[in-house]
Amino acid sequence: MSESFDAVEIIAVKRDRHELTDPQIDWVVDAFTRGVVVPEQMSALAMAILLNGMNRREISRWTNAMIDSGERMDFSSLSWATADKHSTGGVGDKITLPLAPLVAACGIAVPQLSGRGLGHTGGTLDKLESIPGWRADLSNEEMMAQLEDVGAVICAAGPGLAPADKKLYALRDVTGTVEAIPLIASSIMSKKIAEGTGSLVLDVKVGTGAFMKSEAMARELAETMVALGTDAGVRTVALLTDMSTPLGLTAGNACEVAESVEVLAGGGPSDVVELTLALAREMLVAAGKADVDPADALASGAAMDVWRRMISAQGGDPDAALPTAKETHVVTASASGTLTRLDAMAVGVAAWRLGAGRSRPGEQVQAGAGVVMHAKPGDAVTAGQPLMTLHTDTPERFERAVAALEGGYDIGTSAMQPVPVVIDRIG
Ligand code: URA
Repeated sequence: MSESFDAVEIIAVKRDRHELTDPQIDWVVDAFTRGVVVPEQMSALAMAILLNGMNRREISRWTNAMIDSGERMDFSSLSWATADKHSTGGVGDKITLPLAPLVAACGIAVPQLSGRGLGHTGGTLDKLESIPGWRADLSNEEMMAQLEDVGAVICAAGPGLAPADKKLYALRDVTGTVEAIPLIASSIMSKKIAEGTGSLVLDVKVGTGAFMKSEAMARELAETMVALGTDAGVRTVALLTDMSTPLGLTAGNACEVAESVEVLAGGGPSDVVELTLALAREMLVAAGKADVDPADALASGAAMDVWRRMISAQGGDPDAALPTAKETHVVTASASGTLTRLDAMAVGVAAWRLGAGRSRPGEQVQAGAGVVMHAKPGDAVTAGQPLMTLHTDTPERFERAVAALEGGYDIGTSAMQPVPVVIDRIG
């Protein structure tokens, strides 16, 4: 078959800071999915996009081309309204785990197609796989049946959903082209629009542990995604939330599941509870249930009941003991005072190096690996007290994890106010 364009010519357009036309975008995304545009060429184009950007029309067309590379799901046969949330990725970000059952307990179904860890950021599926027996891969039929029956499903996106994004995402991960607003926005929104949810709440992270380090960049990403969702007929709002310090007191896999269960049992760290409730409220408003207060479903145990059913429906045992790491190492406070900074990136990299994340595609993660924090910014600490406990099965990893934490926290003498979790709302 003769091709309408030539990849080199399209790369040169973006390299020279010009706009790509609609037919050029449609062709390059389709030809990449078919293997006609080879990874070297797509990598060069991704770098040109990272450096020179795309305008709203180009981003919208690119998103549609990625949606059209695969199938569209349809939840209209369900007896429930649906809402979904997506986080741009953070450290200790286990919010999906308590959030999906909580929103389902309030009467809105949550089809949560999740991913695995990327770099220093954790992946929801990796966390849930620490529950004995739990499986991430469901057929579309299994997913629909569970949604109708339980109201919540967290599973891997099937191979048919935005395959262009799957290929491009893997390339970006290894070519330094993750942090491009047009590429992040189109990657997230192509999957969410193809998934067919009725409403979508985006948790756009800002800070050292996020892909967007500045508020201005996070705001631009949020506005771009809200516009893409709205144009596609999905009610979309975004919360800008802090990722300068990890969420909660755990960063890893099994330890984050345990913390999520604490939240569902009515306890857990206040920042995790606050963000879970803020996102649940937005999802309920977007799906037409503004009168329901998710705090009630948390307090009554209704969200915990849905969690147990959701885990069991995917083969997991909600009562099984979670795996623990073989070895631990305690990092102690070097001085007395107030913990004024605990850097999300430092903790994320430490957890990753302990084995909670991957250093090569497809690598097995350690369920028990991670960082358990004993203090958060604003807390008083005394010299010698444990600040963090590091967990791994492979103790030779401690040295590099401790190195990642060096310079990652400050102890000062003056009191400080903790930073608010929710910075702004867009949409
Ligand atoms: N999450 C995604 O799905 N895609 C990105 O590009 C970044 C975060």
